Amino acid sequence: MTRRRRVYEGKAKVLFEGPEPGTLVQYFKDDATAFNGEKKSTVTGKGVLNNRISEHLMSRLGEIGIQNHFIRRLNMREQLIKEVEIIPVEVIIRNIAAGSICSRLGITEGTALPRAIIEYCFKSDDLNDPLVSEEHITAFGWATPQELDEIMNLSLRVNDFLSGLFTGIGIRLVDFKLEFGRYYDGDEVQIILADEISPDNCRLWDMATNEKLDKDRFRRDLGGVEDAYQEVARRLGILPEG
Ligand code: C5P
Repeated sequence: MTRRRRVYEGKAKVLFEGPEPGTLVQYFKDDATAFNGEKKSTVTGKGVLNNRISEHLMSRLGEIGIQNHFIRRLNMREQLIKEVEIIPVEVIIRNIAAGSICSRLGITEGTALPRAIIEYCFKSDDLNDPLVSEEHITAFGWATPQELDEIMNLSLRVNDFLSGLFTGIGIRLVDFKLEFGRYYDGDEVQIILADEISPDNCRLWDMATNEKLDKDRFRRDLGGVEDAYQEVARRLGILPEG
């Protein structure tokens, strides 16, 4: 990984210049952070598992026509991706109440929501990723109304597909976060799914026991973080080699 120019370093991932123009290498670290970086630690093996899990989910989504940045996995911790211009909005899709919606609206964790709810947060570490509305997104030009429509449609399609996929392996997809980017392909600009989809940015509960199989184990000091991620990978049929 030292052989490439570092383009960006986030809390759990590093982006390096890719081998061809328009590509990047996404490296998955073992670092875990919560509460906007206030809580920090490392979870041994997390990066390897997230690389595999995100590869699997992005590939399945690609197969049903949901364009995304994943090209191919390079090794245990790295994947080749398409370079995109990231839209500075985190898209959160919720099926069951958990996390911030519970504290914000006084809903009991575990309450099924009447329908999938989409929320948007402005991507800003300094501001703690504040919740914003569609109005903010279009008024401040973070995305055009057409782009936002596309983002909403894609998010609901991702939710439908992933909810079914996880149900098939006895896991409830409670909520998750997506990021999108503009992919410039010649004269064409396309909104595609970016970032990662892993237990770091999804809430995943075992359907039989309600056991948490996601980053809440780290956030809430429940222990067994790596085991939980490993269990998700095992059920997806993709335990990492080696
Ligand atoms: O914290 P909150 O309940 O709003 O999180 C909703 C979902 O979005 C969770 O699955 C969480 O892991 C994910 N999320 C994320 N990155 C953030 C905020 C939330 O992956 N910055």
